[in-house]
Amino acid sequence: MEHARIRRRFKEFMQSHDHQWVASSSLLPDDPSVLFTTAGMQQFKKYYTEPSLAPGKNVASIQKCVRTSDIDEVGDTSHLTFFEMLGNFSFGGYFKEEAITLTHEFITREMGLTIDYVSVFGGEGEVPADHDSKKIWETLDPTIEVRSSGRADNFWGPTGAEGPCGPTTEVYVDGLEIWNVVFNQYYQEKDGSLRSLEVPGIDTGMGMERLAMVAQHVPTVFDTDLFAPIMHLLPESLDERIRRIVADHARAVAFLIADGVRPSNKEQGYVLRRFLRRMIVHLSGTGIDMSAPLAKVIELYGNTYHLNGDEILHVAKAEAEKFDRTLHQGIRELAKLESIDAANAFRLYESFGLPYELIKDLGGAKADGLSRDAFDEKFKEHQEKSRAGVEKKFGGHGLIFDTGELKAANADELQKVTRLHTATHLLHAALRKVLGDAVGQAGSDITVERTRFDFTFPRKLTPEEIAAIQEVVNDAIARDLPVNKAVMAKDEAERTGALFFFKEKYPDPVNVYYTGDDMLSAFSKEFCGGPHVQHTGEIGTFRIIKEEAVGAGVRRIRAIVE
Ligand code: SER
Repeated sequence: MEHARIRRRFKEFMQSHDHQWVASSSLLPDDPSVLFTTAGMQQFKKYYTEPSLAPGKNVASIQKCVRTSDIDEVGDTSHLTFFEMLGNFSFGGYFKEEAITLTHEFITREMGLTIDYVSVFGGEGEVPADHDSKKIWETLDPTIEVRSSGRADNFWGPTGAEGPCGPTTEVYVDGLEIWNVVFNQYYQEKDGSLRSLEVPGIDTGMGMERLAMVAQHVPTVFDTDLFAPIMHLLPESLDERIRRIVADHARAVAFLIADGVRPSNKEQGYVLRRFLRRMIVHLSGTGIDMSAPLAKVIELYGNTYHLNGDEILHVAKAEAEKFDRTLHQGIRELAKLESIDAANAFRLYESFGLPYELIKDLGGAKADGLSRDAFDEKFKEHQEKSRAGVEKKFGGHGLIFDTGELKAANADELQKVTRLHTATHLLHAALRKVLGDAVGQAGSDITVERTRFDFTFPRKLTPEEIAAIQEVVNDAIARDLPVNKAVMAKDEAERTGALFFFKEKYPDPVNVYYTGDDMLSAFSKEFCGGPHVQHTGEIGTFRIIKEEAVGAGVRRIRAIVE
């Protein structure tokens, strides 16, 4: 049964059984305690405690989901990062008997599948065994095998820090768990304690890809009609596991970009970046790039979801162009290592942006001893060390950071002055681009609120000049240029044309910060001690708020970033 028919069947079945159909919500939930929508119930979470707000007592949906918890399993026959979940939900409309009956009827009659066995909650701690469900299954089909398990396998939820949860019954077909039916009887508080919900609810979830796999009688989800057209495009020369990973990530990437995620070093953006980098690296040198599998995803889902193809391809391409070179340098460094442990894996991440899973993919046997936990531990250690370092250096002054030019009292302030600092470099470069070489730095001072930059220039600036300078800076921000540092002998640094402030005494060798891929084509380059953002996109919007004279032939600009 092809996937379009499965969708239709499920929708019609649930509608004919008194469910209101609800469209999938975004992959980015409004619940701040989770990064992604990981289950169909996410958008309905609040209805379990406040059923009167629900659009109906019973609803059903097919929800797009992203789960990173299974990322290390992706590449086997059935695990995915992006998938769709078919589900029916009730907030006081029906409970165990109706829920199990609907499940049984859909699987056996509508889909024509044979259930291997089911599992129910066997009781653990304060939560008693679910004898009711066992009886209901046995009444529906006396031949059915009912297994039972504890909290690890037959209890679900909550998503995020707190929420509805409860015992489950799970349905297995061809050895695969395909449907999870949750009886939301409890609410788990932040401290882990359970209280009974006033109105018990139902939350069910069935993986679309797994259902298609058993319904289409194919050995893996990658052989279903949801994946086969993508898999066909991927080079046979790649290892099968890697082909599956690339196909999986192509779907996740397309849907994340469509829902507004952009690659970055934080949270959802970092997950997208990891997926993209893995695709970039594995496809490089194979003769096809990311656009082919992405275009296929867009085509496959065009009828079901709104996916803006141009936008998806543009964001993916920009990321590939930006990182191609660094990633390849990283791969060369990785190849030189004899064995990869957490310490040198973290160095590969820090210097070349290679994410953990890519190091595992590429390292092969050399990385056998590397685990995600050990890698994450290094990450934490590093963060703690650099925090302690900053505090030690500047502690006791009330300021954690004070270079004379920039001052910050805490991490948030440090981040703000850092953005303003890079913006000041861009401003300096923009002044020279718009006003010419008569501009020279005469002073600079950065606070949390603003940057103040003094420079030599013989007259007042016109409003057009101010607007042009501002635009040149914002343009450099929009291009999201990488900010790089080179350490070089002072006379050599001077020959590159990097700007410096004649009043300042610089060490030799000196640090040159430049924005762009290399020093030759850089938008700005300047002698400097830092700190700076990693990419100009982090700066935000740059705005000049004042231009005035501070002496003969010296002008002052105050500017902010928002
Ligand atoms: N929330 C449950 C799950 O994700 C059932 O939908 O498995």
